[in-house]
Parts: sequence; C-alpha cells; structure tokens
Amino acid sequence: MKLILLGPPGAGKGTQAQRLVTRHDIPQLSTGDMLRAAVAAETEVGLKAKAIMDAGNLVPDEVVNAIVADRIAEEDCSEGFILDGYPRTLKQADALEALLEKRGQHLDHVIELKVDDDILVKRVSGRFSCANCGTVYHDEDKLPKAEGVCDTCGSTEFKRRPDDNAETMRSRLRTYYKETSPLVGYYYCKRTLRSIDGMAPIDDVTGSIEEVLKG
Ligand code: AP5
Ligand code: ZN
Repeated sequence: MKLILLGPPGAGKGTQAQRLVTRHDIPQLSTGDMLRAAVAAETEVGLKAKAIMDAGNLVPDEVVNAIVADRIAEEDCSEGFILDGYPRTLKQADALEALLEKRGQHLDHVIELKVDDDILVKRVSGRFSCANCGTVYHDEDKLPKAEGVCDTCGSTEFKRRPDDNAETMRSRLRTYYKETSPLVGYYYCKRTLRSIDGMAPIDDVTGSIEEVLKG
C-alpha cells in the first residue's frame, strides 16, 4: 500500500503515520524528519536546509526529490510506504509520479487531513516529541501516560522543534496555502483524493483513515 498523508503543518500527518506504521507494517517516509536528521548530522544538504526550515520556507524541489527517490529505492519500501510531508509542490507531485511509473508502482490513496488554522497554531505550539523514538505528544491534548516517560520506548528525554514558534508557523501556513494546497485539486482530478476531518480526536481520525484504506 502506497499512500500520501496531505495537510497543513500540525494537521496530524506524523501522528497518524506513526499509527499506520504499527498497524500496516510499512515505513513512514517523512521528508521533515529526513531533513532534520540531515541538519543534525551537518551534511551538505542539512547545512543548506537549516535556514530555509527555520524560516518556514520549502527546501528546493530537486533536493527533496532526490532524498525521496533514494529512500523509496530501499528494500523496506518494496511493499509500500506512507509519505508524510511529501509531495509539497506540484513539481514534487510530478516527480513522484514519474518515479513511481519508472518503478512500475502507483499510489493507492491520497488522504487530506482538514484542520482549521487556529487549531493548527494551538497544536504546533504545544507539540513535543520523544528524543529517542520520535513519538509525538502535546502539552494539553496528548501527554505521556506516565509523567515524563515516553509511552513507546520509556525514554525520559523530550525535544521541541525550532520551527514550532508563532512567527515561523505563520510562514509555514502561508507556504502551505501557496505551494502545497494546489495538490488537493491535483489529486482530486486523478481520483485518488479523500478528505477527512482532522479535527476529530486522534483515535477517530485513525478510524476515518482506516475506512478509506478499506474502501
Ligand atoms: P515537516 O516536518 O513535514 O512539518 P509540517 O508539514 O509543517 O508538519 P508537522 O510535522 O508540523 O505537522 P503534522 O501534520 O505531522 O502534525 P503532528 O502529527 O506532529 O516539515 C518541516 C519543514 O521541513 C518544512 O517547513 C520545510 O522547510 C521542510 N520540508 C519538509 N518536507 C519538505 C518537502 N517535501 N519539500 C520542501 N521542504 C520540505 O501533530 C501536531 C500536534 O498536534 C502534536 O502535538 C499532536 O499530538 C497533536 N495532534 C495531532 N492530531 C491531533 C488530533 N486529532 N487532535 C488533537 N491533537 C492532535
Ligand atoms: Zn520514545
């Protein structure tokens, strides 16, 4: 199964992708996570990407397309994958289509998570994640079950993203509406798009996604 989770920053793409990894045993391909790893490792890509990400802008298409093409070629993607945060521009969508065609593959689902802007800002400003396994939490809506201990791996180290501040979030939202939202029409025309209410509780959103995957 090959699917895209589409939606603005804070829509819940990463949260839902982590659940789908467990349920369907396919990898999550998050370009944001891959780029943050490159920044942390101070690779050539990471050094270029850091300022762009801190400003809430998009890393150039060629850079991201190359990262995704390398990742999709890996063995664990042969049965499927969940794309989280990619594609993000029409050029990236075209590149993905060409890549999959070359591999004799096609997308099964594109699922759009719809969430109002004021909720997105609240979600992003309260987000933190496990520094060890990446499980995502929220200051108000999703705290670890035992205070200060990750539910998934038991780590007590947590981190916050440098781009999760009000100013960068405004820029990320502007970028989303300008560059990424046209993909909703793009995939609608290809009859692969399903839009679901991303404002429902996390379990309900997972349920709606599973309904789409069954259908
Ligand atoms: P990226 O890491 O992809 O960030 P994003 O798209 O801005 O998305 P987020 O990770 O912020 O949100 P999410 O939808 O995953 O929400 P989450 O599940 O965490 O990209 C970062 C940067 O990298 C970009 O700005 C760009 O510079 C660069 N980049 C990445 N990909 C690129 C590409 N393809 N091309 C070019 N540049 C690229 O949830 C958020 C919070 O809400 C959490 O605290 C969670 O617990 C909570 N929450 C989730 N669902 C619910 C719910 N249903 N109810 C209540 N709370 C919820
Ligand atoms: Zn953890």
